[in-house]
Amino acid sequence: MPKPVFILNGPNLNMLGKREPSVYGAATLADIEALCRHEADRLGLAVDFRQTNHEGTLVDWIQEAGEAAIGIVLNPGAYTHTSIALHDAIRSIAVPVVEVHLSNIFAREAFRHHSYVSPVASGVLCGFGATGYGLALAALAARTAG
Ligand code: DQA
Repeated sequence: MPKPVFILNGPNLNMLGKREPSVYGAATLADIEALCRHEADRLGLAVDFRQTNHEGTLVDWIQEAGEAAIGIVLNPGAYTHTSIALHDAIRSIAVPVVEVHLSNIFAREAFRHHSYVSPVASGVLCGFGATGYGLALAALAARTAG
């Protein structure tokens, strides 16, 4: 079995579709998972798609990915802006992490302009809605090819 890409979603992303659609769009998390599976098939990647509202669970999953995944697509939700624990977890692993946000966090409130994840991510995609997840998978596929 080839190692998958872990696609990890943080707090409140289970509410997509109902949650501020003018900011986050109409797609539900299930829609985003379907988009990811479709794109992963096209790219020849396996995916393990997860969501949690708990910071420590994200830390556990990032550590797990260090052993069990070829890369991570990570939307940390609000923990992006607060979590040194996520920053440290990403520093502790060798696999690439692509940070994804549905919204353009730089066009929003000032408290969203700082990310603890970006300095330790391989790259960042924000503002492209659900499409950003597919772009992140393509970026990981290109990075891990060969
Ligand atoms: C988000 C942006 C964060 O600022 C916010 O707290 C979220 C979602 C995004 O996908 O645009 O929960 O990560």
